[in-house]
Amino acid sequence: MRNTLYTLLAMAALAAPLSAKGGSELKGKFYFIKNCKTCHVEGKSGGVVTPLIKTQAQWKAYFKADKHAKGKEKLGAHTKLTPAQMEDVMTFLVAHASDSPQPMTCGG
Ligand code: HEC
Repeated sequence: MRNTLYTLLAMAALAAPLSAKGGSELKGKFYFIKNCKTCHVEGKSGGVVTPLIKTQAQWKAYFKADKHAKGKEKLGAHTKLTPAQMEDVMTFLVAHASDSPQPMTCGG
């Protein structure tokens, strides 16, 4: 059991820099919480949005399409995120998508 835990920790440490390719997963998580979770928690206008509501391919397609709120506006419409920061958000969401090695239910 202990060994399994250490193996998992070692794998996570190895996986982190790899998944950051293209953008920063860590920064992306921060931006997601600060800029997206404001509307995307239970009871708020956007409803619950977490990394695992989509697969990795679906998140990439979603950011590429750049449409938000049922296609009404651009994805960054309510945020002041730069394109680079938006890529960080995507990197975070893709890294924890439903078919990722580490699916995540919440942004924090
Ligand atoms: C000002 C509030 C607000 C902010 C900020 C916001 N959203 Fe939304 N979001 C919404 C609303 C409203 C909807 C539409 C919900 C519905 O009609 O079911 C939505 C829908 C979504 C959906 C579901 C698919 C779609 O587009 O309809 C996703 C995924 C999403 N938002 C991601 C994000 C991400 C990522 C960010 C940060 C970059 C973000 N949202 C910031 C309000 C917000």
